[in-house]
Amino acid sequence: MTLVWRHLPRPLCLVTSTLRILEMRPFLSLGASWKSVTKLGLHTRPKMPPCDFTPEKYQSLGYNRVLEIHKKHLSPVVTAFFQKPLLLHQGHMEWLFDAEGNRYLDFFSGIVTVSVGHCHPKVNAVAQKQLGRLWHTSAIFFHAPIHEYAEKLAALLPEPLKVIFLVNSGSEANDLAMLMARAHSNNIEIISFRGAYHGCSPYTLGLTNVGTYKMELPGGIGCQPTMCPDVFRGPWGGSHCRDSPVQTIRKCSCAPDCCQAKDLYIEQFKDMLNTSVAKSIAGFFAEPIQGVNGVVQYPKGFLKEAFELVRARGGVCIADEHFWGFQTHDVLPDIVTMAKGIGNGFPMAAVVTTPEIAKSLAKRLQHFNTFGGNPLACAVGSAVLEVIKEENLQGNSQEVGTYMLLKFAKLKDEFEIVGDVRGKGLMIGIEMVQDKKSRQPLPQEEVNKIHEDCKNMGLLVGKGGIFAQTFRIAPPMCITKLEADFAVEVFHSALTQHMERRAK
Ligand SMILES: Cc1ncc(COP(=O)(O)O)c(C=O)c1O
Repeated sequence: MTLVWRHLPRPLCLVTSTLRILEMRPFLSLGASWKSVTKLGLHTRPKMPPCDFTPEKYQSLGYNRVLEIHKKHLSPVVTAFFQKPLLLHQGHMEWLFDAEGNRYLDFFSGIVTVSVGHCHPKVNAVAQKQLGRLWHTSAIFFHAPIHEYAEKLAALLPEPLKVIFLVNSGSEANDLAMLMARAHSNNIEIISFRGAYHGCSPYTLGLTNVGTYKMELPGGIGCQPTMCPDVFRGPWGGSHCRDSPVQTIRKCSCAPDCCQAKDLYIEQFKDMLNTSVAKSIAGFFAEPIQGVNGVVQYPKGFLKEAFELVRARGGVCIADEHFWGFQTHDVLPDIVTMAKGIGNGFPMAAVVTTPEIAKSLAKRLQHFNTFGGNPLACAVGSAVLEVIKEENLQGNSQEVGTYMLLKFAKLKDEFEIVGDVRGKGLMIGIEMVQDKKSRQPLPQEEVNKIHEDCKNMGLLVGKGGIFAQTFRIAPPMCITKLEADFAVEVFHSALTQHMERRAK
């Protein structure tokens, strides 16, 4: 994620004027090879699917003023995407509009957070009603929205995961889960994968094993990283390790129901338990699919065996979730943490655990959170769950996600720099490499150019991976196949353009 305010390489207005020119260029069919694009000319822009929503006219701060205020008053930590970060104005379902009225298909959802769609009408209506009724009480009083929400959320989780703690962010949820694991086990050490991202609070930074978040400051005591069983980039992987319709380009001789890569990664896990932690541990955190690390999937059966090994050492198993990835690993965690999509962008998060673990925490400490479970958050959370059910959004994720994943996977055959395409449902990763043989990451400057090109054609995607080498695709769950087609076409065009740049 790069932004260098001081070194904008070209006048700010150029990007938008180029955009307008691009709109007039001919539409490229997905089947065309990158050579034919050369003949057509650069910057082919696929036709954007229609949207019947008209945004309001932007009447707020001008771009330069925003830039000035940002430099002066906002965090200097570099996070915004693109050389000229987008100034967004309005959102509607899967669409975003910038201050100049340009429309973008949002395939990163505010970092995998806008689950049912920007400003979803039902969620908005519920929030507005609750805004006029009661915003805040804190946990010293009862209010119906929290009880309604707790019952709805608990109904979606298997026994004995029935006790809910509400907080405001994913980091807070994981902080609390760490405390619970330690309070329940009476042990200290917690294991997490290399490449894992579990938050940026001082406590969770110990679990987060992404180099850019590690710093020369004390923190994360009692946390132990372990090898990530990454079947594409890691030392082992084969042709049917993943729970995904798309497998790696690596070959293996395993029968479909056995996985040598899984066994080898489990050996590493055992080695870590035998060498790097105390005999008794507090717990093990895992994302069912790693997000920030670039949608990394583990070999089938790995988490099941790892959970057994952790429990044999007295530890509890924590899934840091997306509704509910643990089920696809055939495991039952002791604690489930969730944030992001549960509020469709409203800041809320939850920790769900067993009555026994909840009691262990209550015995040891008074846990309090002023805003956690506030009436507004709970009303929004309930509406989000209702919309997911009413609009069959999980079904849509599976159908459109699989359709799109299979289409993206074809890019692997066409482009040497597409090393791996993976994922499940609407969580998709496209890992870029210098070449398939070395699997060395494509340099960041190149990845950034492709990223910018996608944006210039109206598609917003994310980036991840420890070398920022993987495109992350996680649109709101309401997207259509037509929009998926557009995204694949844009990606194809951007890759084609990039191959042409490289060939020059
Ligand atoms: C898996 C996972 N856990 C925890 C977090 C931290 O959430 P928050 O930024 O809300 O603190 C994130 C954020 O990206 C995440 O992806």
